[in-house]
Amino acid sequence: MTGAHNTKLYYHSRFNIYCEGKSLVSENIKKAAVVGSGSMGHGIAELLAMTGCEVTMIDISDEFLKKGMEKIKWSLDKFVEKKRIRREDADAALALISITTNYEQAGKDVNLAIEATPENMELKRKVFATLDSVTPSNAILASNTSTLSITEMGKMTKRSDKVAGMHFFNPPQLMALVEVIKGESTSQETVNTLAELAKKLGKTPVIVRKDMAGFIVNRVLGAVFNEAFWAYKRGEATKEGIDASVKYTGGFPMGWFELADYVGLDIAYEVGNILYQAYGERLKPCTEVIEPLIKEGKYGQKTGAGFYDWKKGRPRIPFNLLDEYDVDRSWAVAVNEAAWIIHDDVANPEDIDTGMKLGTYWPSGPCEHADRTGIDNVLNKLKELYSKYKMEMYKPCPVIEDYVAKGWTGKKAGRGFYK
Ligand code: 3HC
Repeated sequence: MTGAHNTKLYYHSRFNIYCEGKSLVSENIKKAAVVGSGSMGHGIAELLAMTGCEVTMIDISDEFLKKGMEKIKWSLDKFVEKKRIRREDADAALALISITTNYEQAGKDVNLAIEATPENMELKRKVFATLDSVTPSNAILASNTSTLSITEMGKMTKRSDKVAGMHFFNPPQLMALVEVIKGESTSQETVNTLAELAKKLGKTPVIVRKDMAGFIVNRVLGAVFNEAFWAYKRGEATKEGIDASVKYTGGFPMGWFELADYVGLDIAYEVGNILYQAYGERLKPCTEVIEPLIKEGKYGQKTGAGFYDWKKGRPRIPFNLLDEYDVDRSWAVAVNEAAWIIHDDVANPEDIDTGMKLGTYWPSGPCEHADRTGIDNVLNKLKELYSKYKMEMYKPCPVIEDYVAKGWTGKKAGRGFYK
């Protein structure tokens, strides 16, 4: 055995503690392959290795793989510097990671393969067909897709019961959530194994009951991004003003333009388009603000420029602009999309709130926010915005109208999204 298996103390990233004796490596998942070494893939590989799992990272070129390994080293060094792990644990984790461009080599003997390639269904179909042919037939095949159909990926394999979504959040090393998505043929055993693995990785799993585009978190994020980008496009506020209000009045960890840059404008653009195809006008992205930047190769943080200049680190959002934008607009569309998620039977209010609080570190989940501030107030805000802009994103979801009609206006009424 190598690396972390030999140490007496085991680091538990969720609690920032060392546990004595028992390895945190999952009973079922001892060897894994991660396809893709980009912003998500390298982080997932690092997390798996930190719990003692042997990982092979696959990509299309040695250059990409080298860059992925450099990022893993940087991240592990950061954890050592912050005294979250010991140097020997970082070294042990690193020793468990190997890289290859060869699928056969990576897929041999694995219990799990996680696909983390760009949001392109054709590509993912090919990857799943390949993984199906190179991994043992009892291995679980998971996708880190943000938006695409797990069921479709499963169809490319002879084991669709063992195909599921395992969606991490950027940066996977720091964000506390994993969405586990059940495709139409995914077995409960596969879901349970991945949920258990997520816990071993120090994350909270949320089970997404239905395989619908964007699952939970990206649907709600898509709504707030669209609202802000359209407001910016109409010239109602500057991007700095919107981000100032979101950060300093709303208490969100990043403004929406800053966050789009942080996850990558190429990714935000793809996710926005997929949500639009799936849900139509309600989630219509404001492509006009992102497209020109993408054409210039400005993808956000990873290229040093996007909406903001990232060459000297995170952008400084000026405090004095916070009156330019009303952050309740963000909350109104977030609550509306949360209501649609409930309407579609994808998740319940608790899971939506957990998803937003742990997947994006929002100060509050949209359902509990609405219950606290009054669902009737959210409804009024949506109606006001709809009559002003006539855009579908503001059209209240029937769930909200129904709750208010029944007097379920939230905490003050003793019943809202929650009892
Ligand atoms: N590994 C290790 N350490 C890391 C790291 C990594 N990958 N990334 C950042 N750090 C370190 C930083 O270097 C920093 O250390 P330093 O102080 O020595 O420089 C430390 O962690 C904290 O970072 P920040 O100073 O930037 O501090 P914050 O307190 O703002 O925390 C954050 C950063 C946790 C990212 C916080 O800003 C946040 O929660 N932002 C929102 C992120 C989010 O919403 N993610 C989800 C996006 S949606 C998504 O991913 C879905 C996909 O499908 C699109």
